[in-house]
Amino acid sequence: MEILERDPHIELRVNSEDRGCTRDELVSGFQWADGALTMLSDKIDRELLEVAPRLRVVANYAVGYNNIDLTAANERHVVVTNTPHCLAEATADLTMGLLLAVARRLVEGDGLVRAGLFKGWAPEFLLGMDLHGKTLGIIGLGEIGTCVARRARAFGMRIVYCARHEAPTASELQAERVELPELLRRSDVVSLHCPLTAETKGMLGAAQLAAMKPTAYLINTARGACIDENALIEALRTHAIAGAALDVYDGEPNVKAGFMALKNVVLAPHLGSAATETRVTMGHVAISNILAVLNGGIAPNPVN
Ligand code: GLV
Ligand code: GLV
Repeated sequence: MEILERDPHIELRVNSEDRGCTRDELVSGFQWADGALTMLSDKIDRELLEVAPRLRVVANYAVGYNNIDLTAANERHVVVTNTPHCLAEATADLTMGLLLAVARRLVEGDGLVRAGLFKGWAPEFLLGMDLHGKTLGIIGLGEIGTCVARRARAFGMRIVYCARHEAPTASELQAERVELPELLRRSDVVSLHCPLTAETKGMLGAAQLAAMKPTAYLINTARGACIDENALIEALRTHAIAGAALDVYDGEPNVKAGFMALKNVVLAPHLGSAATETRVTMGHVAISNILAVLNGGIAPNPVN
């Protein structure tokens, strides 16, 4: 904001409230703007792009960009950019936090202490799963998946992964590439690090969850819609898997009531990149993409 305010060539319209724009605010902004800095909660569809005669760049303040209609943007020669690189470490930190929280029952334990139910150390009290020596299955070994795998290696875990291509970091991580059915069968923890696309939408449904070990945990810091959430609720309820920890939801900020009733799920409110330095860097990246295009240059992080 300070950088843009200092620029004499830039006229700004800002939603300075800590919430997403309403549809009306988006429409009136897009009717007016040459460039837009958007959030993953802003739906940038064809209809919105069609009311924007001057628009040249949409810089999404996120690494994911499934909220933007890229086909419509391409047709209108609008450059779409994201914020890669800068949020992988923070998202990987949160992934490990979620994994530890669910596998070592931290949230359950916190609730118990606060309720005055801690009666003292006991050999079989709140037992969880050891991580060392276990297998972590990573779906999508890109930047974030790689940062998670490095952390998991330091915890003594073995890595298997599935991805469309052999990952360049696979040998560093001693990670073995397998097909999804084998990953689900072998993993003690499954963690999603893929974008939401037509291919990954609903990729973990009832059949895939049934293929996981009954002792396994599922972690999702990618996008909620990659999982069939009703099937996941059922798998958790019947203990077909041991537990799950979620940071993202299909239709968020709404979270299905079925999750709320379960003890074996940890529910975080989309905090993957929510760390101060990371969010500041994401801002710099988004602004540099907007300024590059508006100044007639090449955006550093285009996705179309
Ligand atoms: C957050 O979900 C992001 O895509 O950056
Ligand atoms: C636990 O606190 C131990 O000392 O083993």
